[in-house]
Amino acid sequence: MRFLVGSLALLAATVCGQNLVEWTEASSGVQYSIGIPEAAAAPFDVYLSITAPANITYAAIAFGGCMLRSPLLVAWKSNSSIVTSSRWAAAYHPPTIYNGTAVAISKTSSVNSTYWTAELVCSGCSSWLGGSVGAFGNVPLGWALSSSPLANPASSNGSIPYHNVGKDHFEINITNARNTPSQFGALISGAKRPWSPRRPPLALV
Ligand SMILES: *[C@@H]1O[C@H](CO)[C@@H](O)[C@H](O)[C@H]1NC(C)=O
Ligand SMILES: *[C@@H]1O[C@H](CO)[C@@H](O)[C@H](O)[C@H]1NC(C)=O
Ligand SMILES: *[C@@H]1O[C@H](CO)[C@@H](O)[C@H](O)[C@H]1NC(C)=O
Ligand SMILES: *[C@@H]1O[C@H](CO)[C@@H](O)[C@H](O)[C@H]1NC(C)=O
Ligand SMILES: *[C@@H]1O[C@H](CO)[C@@H](O)[C@H](O)[C@H]1NC(C)=O
Ligand SMILES: *[C@@H]1O[C@H](CO)[C@@H](O)[C@H](O)[C@H]1NC(C)=O
Repeated sequence: MRFLVGSLALLAATVCGQNLVEWTEASSGVQYSIGIPEAAAAPFDVYLSITAPANITYAAIAFGGCMLRSPLLVAWKSNSSIVTSSRWAAAYHPPTIYNGTAVAISKTSSVNSTYWTAELVCSGCSSWLGGSVGAFGNVPLGWALSSSPLANPASSNGSIPYHNVGKDHFEINITNARNTPSQFGALISGAKRPWSPRRPPLALV
């Protein structure tokens, strides 16, 4: 049965004319949705939506497939707002701030009593020193979830607790997440200005 659940969890969806690939982590119900533009290759901006039950304190994605040496994008709720932070881990320790990205939080993000949804647009998540996300076919991504409280949820640069709910990788066929310029424009139209400047890939080891 687990196999069945896992198979059904990976869906390509056309939502309001936009192409998103959705993946649901079966044990927690956290859903990741990804959309990209029709780029030939990285770097390209990545649209990422995460919907999580209220008892998930943060949800993270690793663009290289595992925690080490690729951009980590972490999102959580702080009262009724969504906070996000880009991180980098060179070892299995709490990840440090990564300044190779610019992340916009869409105003379509939402928080209610049972769920929070972070809608993010990341520049810099699809390529980094030593790797990149493919623009076609199967792409491995990492996920990590926690239910431990964040020390300071209002701050995007606070310490990230251990992913006690779980972590692993999943694979998406990113070909199904490709969007024309007008589709991608509609997807990111709610995005506010980035909270940090875009920087070229950095040598972080
Ligand atoms: C979150 O709450 C749901 C519903 O009460 C429960 O089934 C689930 O185990 C909880 N998850 C965590 C990580 O505590
Ligand atoms: C956010 O929630 C915390 C407790 O979780 C509370 O101390 C704080 O005052 C709240 N902040 C706002 C702006 O509502
Ligand atoms: C970005 O990170 C690099 C490497 O840690 C550091 O040298 C640089 O000062 C940082 N830049 C900013 C604007 O924080
Ligand atoms: C809370 O948000 C979730 C996810 O967006 C949504 O499915 C649910 O209907 C919302 N619940 C309420 C009470 O608005
Ligand atoms: C990915 O999806 C595309 C379009 O649906 C399909 O043509 C291709 O065979 C798939 N690739 C893999 C590796 O499954
Ligand atoms: C963390 O953010 C606060 C403001 O939110 C800022 O004052 C502080 O310098 C930041 N620290 C780092 C290490 O970026």
